[in-house]
Amino acid sequence: MEVLDYDIVILGSGLAGMRAALQAAIASNGKARIAVISKLHAMRSHSVSAEGGISGVLYPGEHGDSEDLHGYDTAKGGDFLGDQDAVELLVKHAPEEIKLFDHLGVPWNRDNNGKIVLRPFGGMSIPRTAFASDKTGFFMLSALYDNLLEFDNIKIFHEYLATGLVMEKGAFRAITALDMASGTMRAFVAKAGIIGTGGFARIYGFTTNAYSCTGDGAALAYNAGLPLKNMEFVQFHPTGLVPSGILITEASRGEGAYLINSKGERFMERYAKNKMELAPRDIVSRSIITEIEEGRGLTDPRFGDMNFVHLDLRHLGEEKIAERLPMVKEIALKMIGVDPAKEPLPVAPVAHFTMGGIHTDINGKVMLNDKKSTTGLWAVGECGCVSVHGANRLGSNSLSQCVIWGKMAGNAAVQLAKSGGATTELSHKTKKLIDSQEDKLNKLLDSNGSENPYDLRKALWRVMDVKVGAFRNLNSLKQARTELAKLKRLYGKIYVDDKSRVYNTNLRDTIEIGNMIDLACVVVAGAINRKESRGAHARRDYPKRDDKRWMKHTIAYKMASGGVKLSYIPVKITKWKPEERKY
Ligand code: FUM
Repeated sequence: MEVLDYDIVILGSGLAGMRAALQAAIASNGKARIAVISKLHAMRSHSVSAEGGISGVLYPGEHGDSEDLHGYDTAKGGDFLGDQDAVELLVKHAPEEIKLFDHLGVPWNRDNNGKIVLRPFGGMSIPRTAFASDKTGFFMLSALYDNLLEFDNIKIFHEYLATGLVMEKGAFRAITALDMASGTMRAFVAKAGIIGTGGFARIYGFTTNAYSCTGDGAALAYNAGLPLKNMEFVQFHPTGLVPSGILITEASRGEGAYLINSKGERFMERYAKNKMELAPRDIVSRSIITEIEEGRGLTDPRFGDMNFVHLDLRHLGEEKIAERLPMVKEIALKMIGVDPAKEPLPVAPVAHFTMGGIHTDINGKVMLNDKKSTTGLWAVGECGCVSVHGANRLGSNSLSQCVIWGKMAGNAAVQLAKSGGATTELSHKTKKLIDSQEDKLNKLLDSNGSENPYDLRKALWRVMDVKVGAFRNLNSLKQARTELAKLKRLYGKIYVDDKSRVYNTNLRDTIEIGNMIDLACVVVAGAINRKESRGAHARRDYPKRDDKRWMKHTIAYKMASGGVKLSYIPVKITKWKPEERKY
């Protein structure tokens, strides 16, 4: 296999990965040799679809806002599972990142005096979300991409599918990846590795996530023996457009849209009378589901057979929708032929964000086990679990997380690469490990089994959508575990129909489906074990939060048998005492 030698290899080209690359380029004065590996063209990374905005206290003191209040909102929103030292870091550094992106070229919405405007978001006490209409992710990602192109020391490998993470004695060694265009495998050997591959909500069928959000980085880490954290916490966004699940931004509600049931009631009054539609997502999603279950949902043959509630933007008027929410209009018109200025939108809770991911320390450094970190490996953005969002992320905190931890990892990777301690010389064992990745791929390509990967994917989506949703219980989770075990067995008999090497999407999809089944098993194992309800993990058989037994992070390892081993570590509480969440 061809071996490419770099100082830093970054897997993933969303906001976190590209922010890491920019920082590494700056911190090394354009000297560090940096490879960015992207499964797609980098500009198609899923961050491009982030809509509503990025949080940060831009004007401390104004309307009583402060870092402390942002931190409190975040800790409370996360139902007190977030590590509060990490929360403190997030709120401290978010404003400087928003300002940096201003300089990089993001056209933040401004008022007539040129001041960046902030909009309200769920669970935030005060408007503190900066935005570029409802295309914030697109503008932030293009600004980063444009700026990266100025650096000769960064090479972006577009359309390379990562197939293996190679570690030796707890130290990062290499990432192997398949060049989709040629079908050639390459090993990217480097002194430091940064994983920023995003979340894995594509393990669900009804999701806001692109088809590419298959949790590749988390699966590679898990299969390399590294721990995952808090995987049972999957966020359901309240407003997925029915029937596709495409995101209708929370900014709609931030700008004043209402949620309405079949009786024409603004039902959030029953569940969160102070925050109404701007309660945290877990609460709003469960409220919608309850309305539907109690018979106050709607159906409409134009939108298939799903139940939904209405998101009503009509009172906002054409002008405000055009200025603040143009993409909502564009999406609704294109997807279902509805103009939100004239007719309410059909929406339902939809899998959106995975709070869990690769277990890292506060700096984004990947942990080797419950106590010790790896050498030279970081995981940033949604694929890493610091954990800053705890059991439920507040909307617009994710973009802050991506860029803050991306920057930190970029700096740290440069320090390591400069220190001279790290080496890219490969031991015999590592060379063998690298070569084994190619053998694995060839075996998959030659496979002659009976199972079609797309059937397995459909079955996976059905299990996750039906049995591991916003509400769970022991029965449904146990059924899910059994069905996933069966899918895992069937995956052993997988058949790759397309035997060619060039742009083999069948092969890519097959690899992704294997990863998704592995991750789904971890989600379900964590969910079965956690006998409480906290944030996005709502057990009908254990409806209360139980701080005494369960205020702890779930850590998951892959056992040699392929099963999941769980352990727990404490949550770090610094400033904000756990309290009952009321909104
Ligand atoms: O609704 C949204 O615009 C999503 C934002 C987020 O997930 O932070």
